[in-house]
Amino acid sequence: MPSAMRNLSRTRGIVEVSLFADARKLALRSNRATDVFAYNGTVPGPTLEAREGDSVIVHFENRLDVATTVHWHGLHIPFDSDGSPFHPVEPGEKRTYSFRLRPGSAGTYWYHPHPNHSTGHQVAKGLYGAIVVRADDDPLPARIHEKLLVLSDNRLREDGSIDLPPDGSLASHIDEENGREGDVLFVNGQVLPTVMIRKGEVQRWRIINSSAARVFRIALEGQKMIHVGSDGGLFEVPREVSELTLANGERVEILVRGSLKPGEKVALQALPYDRYIPQTRPLHWKTTRDLLTLEQTSDVAAEVTIPARLRVVPAIDTASATVRRVVTLSQGLINGKAMDMNRVDFLAKLDDTEIWDIENIVGMDHPFHLHGFQFQVIDRNGVAEPFRSWKDMVNVPKHETARIIVRFANYPGKWMFHCHILDHEDHGMMGILEVK
Ligand code: C2O
Ligand code: CU
Ligand code: CU
Repeated sequence: MPSAMRNLSRTRGIVEVSLFADARKLALRSNRATDVFAYNGTVPGPTLEAREGDSVIVHFENRLDVATTVHWHGLHIPFDSDGSPFHPVEPGEKRTYSFRLRPGSAGTYWYHPHPNHSTGHQVAKGLYGAIVVRADDDPLPARIHEKLLVLSDNRLREDGSIDLPPDGSLASHIDEENGREGDVLFVNGQVLPTVMIRKGEVQRWRIINSSAARVFRIALEGQKMIHVGSDGGLFEVPREVSELTLANGERVEILVRGSLKPGEKVALQALPYDRYIPQTRPLHWKTTRDLLTLEQTSDVAAEVTIPARLRVVPAIDTASATVRRVVTLSQGLINGKAMDMNRVDFLAKLDDTEIWDIENIVGMDHPFHLHGFQFQVIDRNGVAEPFRSWKDMVNVPKHETARIIVRFANYPGKWMFHCHILDHEDHGMMGILEVK
């Protein structure tokens, strides 16, 4: 697992860390050195761990020779600390991000750069890391050990270098259309790691899809998984599932139980998922890939009971919505426009509740993301969402629709909403919501 950022503060309730981005050589796959960008020297970067109520202070230093930002994906925090394209950190500059993690925000988030037009490039070079926010009143027994799984993919050349095709080439055009995918699948920066589990043991896996475009449809070879949470933390009740789909940017929390024989192994698989238009669908998209091996030891764990109720996820009342908007996703555009930093697309009042009708009118999935505020999905294609959860991402499949409800509480500012396929975002599939 990635290491945790070291808390420099001794004061209770304060998490103060330092983070830098630099260019260096790291062995990503074998012993071949790759030129990467790294946070604190590692890919993925170290995990930011904090608790609800904590004040977080991040001293960031940009040691790259290009401008960057650090965006705290999914966190409900002030605009100044959002790390959006509005606040670039130039080479050699420092910036302090500070925010308080509000009660109810426990969940799994992630951080990544968000400079205008080059987010995809910087993430592909290695800049991404996890955020874990815990709650004092977490309903899951402390005996359930946690694992963090940061999923990503990359494409590497024979010589170890990251395969970023030159602008204007056919390969680069395909990446722009599809979103860049890589054939090497990483879990916490490793290829096909092993996770050990004891008989009867229950583990809590926090899974982050930090790839630029790849959708992970995961299954644990014939085993059931218990889905307990998504982007903004735990659900109200656990749900047993045999597979889950995580679009890029999304997170899930699952419980996995050791129910194999001693020495028996199963793979966490990435099943085929067709998010593509036929013209640029990758050749091997139908191949099931293994992500990690789960292996059972001969030890037996003490029984754990999984609580039937997790926490309350209060519904945002649809009757309280005062504004309705339509967000039309086409190839590379939102409502027919490419992003303009000097334009405000939606102007909203602080504390208002709005319903957004997001419609994808093209033959390719677009995972939609809103900064700053967690929302709830009302329905997909008119079918009511079967359970409530806090989300900051909703994948809108080809020619489908999703309706979300969101309250713009606490933080005025200019907030991005965009397709999280990084190539689409970088090419302008993004808009600006101003809350004031
Ligand atoms: Cu994950 Cu605009 O970000
Ligand atoms: Cu974000
Ligand atoms: Cu898109």
